[in-house]
Amino acid sequence: MKTAITEMFGIQHPIIQGGMHFVGFAEMAAAVSNAGGLGIITGLTLGTPEKLANEIVKCRDMTDKPFGVNLTLLPTLTPPDYPGLVKVIIEGGVKVVETAGRNPSELLPPLKDAGIKVIHKCTSVRHSLKAQDIGCDAVSVDGFECGGHPGEDDVPNFILLPCAADELEIPFVSSGGMADGRSLVASLAMGAQGMNMGTRFIATQEAPVHENVKQAIVAASELDTRLVMRSLRNTERVMTNEAVERLIEKEKRLGDDLKFEDIIDEVAGVYPKIMMEGDMDKGAWSCGMVAGLINDIPTCKELIDGIMSEAEAILGRMNKQAAS
Ligand SMILES: Cc1cc2nc3c(=O)[nH]c(=O)nc-3n(C[C@H](O)[C@H](O)[C@H](O)COP(=O)(O)O)c2cc1C
Repeated sequence: MKTAITEMFGIQHPIIQGGMHFVGFAEMAAAVSNAGGLGIITGLTLGTPEKLANEIVKCRDMTDKPFGVNLTLLPTLTPPDYPGLVKVIIEGGVKVVETAGRNPSELLPPLKDAGIKVIHKCTSVRHSLKAQDIGCDAVSVDGFECGGHPGEDDVPNFILLPCAADELEIPFVSSGGMADGRSLVASLAMGAQGMNMGTRFIATQEAPVHENVKQAIVAASELDTRLVMRSLRNTERVMTNEAVERLIEKEKRLGDDLKFEDIIDEVAGVYPKIMMEGDMDKGAWSCGMVAGLINDIPTCKELIDGIMSEAEAILGRMNKQAAS
């Protein structure tokens, strides 16, 4: 299937694996890219330019297909070395960068000068239009269903995607709640040129995370995520667990007085324990409502091939119905 997104990124299928903290290592990105999608290394998980440079080399050894790097712009007092990370992305010959978190304008000049395509992930039409205005090549429109940070507007994809399609001129992919061929056809129907998935890619053979994480996603229903940190205006959709229930109890008790320090045990530095060691109650970890649609742990190739053949079968059926 050819779309503006497959053409822009030089990939076979219009399917992207969004950056994921402590998941988006070279193994994940290479597996998705080898399966014909666009795999993405998560820059901030590596942390330093040197470690990111090594991960890019490792990924290139594992695939000769295009892959990208995610740069998440965090609201922190001690920001990561973004110029250094951008430098190794350029030197490493990476052709696509996924930005997220806030307006990426400070990163764009060196990336654009190097001919790198930038896809900005955002959760509203107004932020998508801003991304278009500042020169991003594409956007990933992340609905309220998504795992991670859905923003503060709470607009689900059945509304957000057609609204984006009505206003945007650059191509966009759907993101949040995407799992299968039905998701892809629906995304195309609503004006997207492809889809981005996070949670679905964690439950794959190649995802470099502990088996407990994959099993937790398979076991979860669509009712098992919670929104946390809303009063801090840093809302995150996470899988529920003991730590998350404790966090929510603190949020209820402290209300608007809640400070980040009150929940530091539940949110800070927990990803390595969860993703690497499988300590599932250690803290809050991002997970989408789409967990309710995930019942297996295929290889990335089985997953992507399955999505494409299901999408093509649906489109064929719809064509036949329209003709009859
Ligand atoms: C465990 C996990 C970690 C994530 N970490 C990041 C991140 O570091 N940066 C980022 O831009 N998005 C991050 N995301 C969001 C994904 O890239 C993607 O936008 C989101 O998962 C899409 O929703 P879905 O999970 O319903 O597919 C994360 C998502 C998950 C599930």
